[in-house]
Amino acid sequence: MNAIKDHAFASDNNSGIHPEILAAIARANRGHVIAYGDDPYTRKAEDTLRNTFGREAEPFFVLTGTGANVLGLASLLQPYHAVICAESAHINVDECGAPERFCNCKLLPVNTTDGKLNPDNILQQLQGFGFEHHVQPKVISISQPTEMGTVYTRDEIESISQLAKKHDLYLHVDGARLANAAVRLNLEFKAFTKDAGIDVLSFGGTKNGMLFGESVIFFRKELAEHFRYIRKQGMQLASKMRFIAIQFDTYITQKIWKANASHANEMAQILYKETEQIPEIQVTQKVETNGIFARIPRKIIAPLQKEYFFYVWDEATNEVRWMTSYDTQPEDIEDFTHFIKELIHQ
Ligand SMILES: Cc1ncc(COP(=O)(O)O)c(C=O)c1O
Repeated sequence: MNAIKDHAFASDNNSGIHPEILAAIARANRGHVIAYGDDPYTRKAEDTLRNTFGREAEPFFVLTGTGANVLGLASLLQPYHAVICAESAHINVDECGAPERFCNCKLLPVNTTDGKLNPDNILQQLQGFGFEHHVQPKVISISQPTEMGTVYTRDEIESISQLAKKHDLYLHVDGARLANAAVRLNLEFKAFTKDAGIDVLSFGGTKNGMLFGESVIFFRKELAEHFRYIRKQGMQLASKMRFIAIQFDTYITQKIWKANASHANEMAQILYKETEQIPEIQVTQKVETNGIFARIPRKIIAPLQKEYFFYVWDEATNEVRWMTSYDTQPEDIEDFTHFIKELIHQ
């Protein structure tokens, strides 16, 4: 069985660990250091994140992306609060109700065509302030890039941030793939996070070459005040923190984030150009990062999945999701699209 081929376009989560990240983990695997993050690797990685996101940033390492989102939100919410998010948001559809359970909050989903919120569509849910029978909106959460692979510009984020501030709401960003957005925007991380008015960020690297581990970054010190306790109670405090920390440090200082995300995004463009040539396939979203959404003939879904597993996004319309990764090769795309054409013409 060829494991790479079987899962080549299913998810960037299916890829392995980037060799430089693996080597860094091995370098940290020396002797004893104090557990739970009170160690030099963690101090250094926190410093690196502060250099990247601004000296006032308060970074914390956690274990998973869901954990980062849920605990970041938990630090902002009371039980009568609500989070406005896109209907397609990971927090809404892919976290098994963890935000509702652990934050005791209600999610207020907004219908979008491309996964993006904006000051107009947010108005669908921006209501009920001061009315005791209505849950009180307190956070706007966006994903950058979105689950549909689309990207918010810095101006778009700023306009959402302004709306949030006007209504005394916080702006939370799920940045599980933030590097792919940074490459697309050709901006440094700080320019479209802290400088665009974000309050709390989930910053991930697992989908872009890291082994595991995510971070929650607060851009206002007071919001981070209780996070140490929230993290421990939320079961996301890693005892061997140094192995998460060294990954982040290497990811940033060696610019692995940039090389990997640039490659994954470029591969998506190649896949997009190839699929565009196939009249039976309609790409349904702008290809701005490393995901491609497309309607494909129903008859090819099962046989294609058998060779190259991937997820069907919408059964009703035969829309599927293909994702490229930091280790996708042009030959993988060539084989894949060749096989698609064969199946279509069978
Ligand atoms: C947009 C987004 N946010 C968050 C996550 C969280 O990831 P996990 O909890 O699986 O680490 C994912 C994973 O696929 C994701 O795609």
